[in-house]
Amino acid sequence: MSMFKSYFGLGAAEAPIKESSPRLLPASWYSSKEIYELERRAVFSRKWLLTTHKLRFPKTGDWLKFNIAGYAFILVRDKDGNVNAFHNICRHRAFPVVTEDGGSARIFSCQYHGWSYGLNGKLAKAPHYQELDGFDKSQNGLFPIQVHVDRNGFVWLNLDADDKPMISWDRDFAGIDLQSRFEGFDFEDYDFDSGWESIGEYNWKAVADNYNENRQHHTDNAGPFVIDARKSIPEIAKALRNASNYYFPNTYATVSTHAFFMQRFVPTGPTTTAVRYEIYRHKDTSDEDFEHTHEAYKLMVSEDETVYSETQQGISARISADGELQPRNANSPLYFQTIVRDLVEQHQEMEEQAQGEVWPARQRLPQEAAVSKDDMDFCSKLTEGGCCGGKACGAGPAPGPATAPEIMVS
Ligand code: FES
Repeated sequence: MSMFKSYFGLGAAEAPIKESSPRLLPASWYSSKEIYELERRAVFSRKWLLTTHKLRFPKTGDWLKFNIAGYAFILVRDKDGNVNAFHNICRHRAFPVVTEDGGSARIFSCQYHGWSYGLNGKLAKAPHYQELDGFDKSQNGLFPIQVHVDRNGFVWLNLDADDKPMISWDRDFAGIDLQSRFEGFDFEDYDFDSGWESIGEYNWKAVADNYNENRQHHTDNAGPFVIDARKSIPEIAKALRNASNYYFPNTYATVSTHAFFMQRFVPTGPTTTAVRYEIYRHKDTSDEDFEHTHEAYKLMVSEDETVYSETQQGISARISADGELQPRNANSPLYFQTIVRDLVEQHQEMEEQAQGEVWPARQRLPQEAAVSKDDMDFCSKLTEGGCCGGKACGAGPAPGPATAPEIMVS
């Protein structure tokens, strides 16, 4: 299977690569605040995001905090063994429900005024609110996020606040957990080993471009995800000669005999990205094999990080970035950029029709919160760009369930 065919994220369709020399996205797309905000709405609030693996939640109450493109959320294993996800926002006054990176809990208790929530997100206690006429606990649980755990245990999220996201997981990824390149791997045979992150001053797409191009280079020349033999560790190259997939928009995963790896390119701003790594160790691998594999992987990604920084510097200088690519050598980065461009342009068209920004992750306003909408409309009239940054952040017809930039706390 070619590298290109191991690229997923748009119905697993093949990329419309032409034999003419297509041009890259222009430099402005790698530094513009407006493009970044549009990507938050069009890409990260719409698409399924491969986030982690269920092995990170071995027992009831195990939880982790994540964030992506300005959205903070919690993943937790409940009493039934399900992995649930919630926005890390207290329903009372929007304080973060958790402030640590992870742990194990029987209940989530907000430190601000003491509201607490179960592992299923339901409100358990709201001090003094039981005296409040009409207060409905069932309407004040944590804001849920759609979760899909695939057959191999990988955990996917979709921030679209609609009960049924506009994009289904099946539409983009059906069958990826059954692909033949996973034959012989049992993900239950691995344990989470460690994770780390690297924060850099580069746009998330610069990371994805380079990563896709580099991996394709390796593929074209040596097979899937083979580390450079010049590193003189041929046995490591052999160990890594296994299945690698890029899952649009921002995750790369590789499964090998001794370990599997996840690498996520998490945008934190127009020109800042956190690259987050997770490594899972096979239960039967020896210390020596695992360490070799681990070291080889770290060496390879550290080289990549240097490339990301240097590329972004060139892009930021506005001297290059919209250069030409040879299609035969750059299918993966071209495919990636084609998807981003299409999503952003389609979303922009939708917003033009709606005469305002469309924020899919925004929660629905409950009926009782009509007063909040009145306040938003009032603010929108006063501020040209809208109090939430949009031209009509509270006004006009909503094309979907959501039209505001952030999670709305009623
Ligand atoms: S903000 Fe959480 S209890 Fe008040």
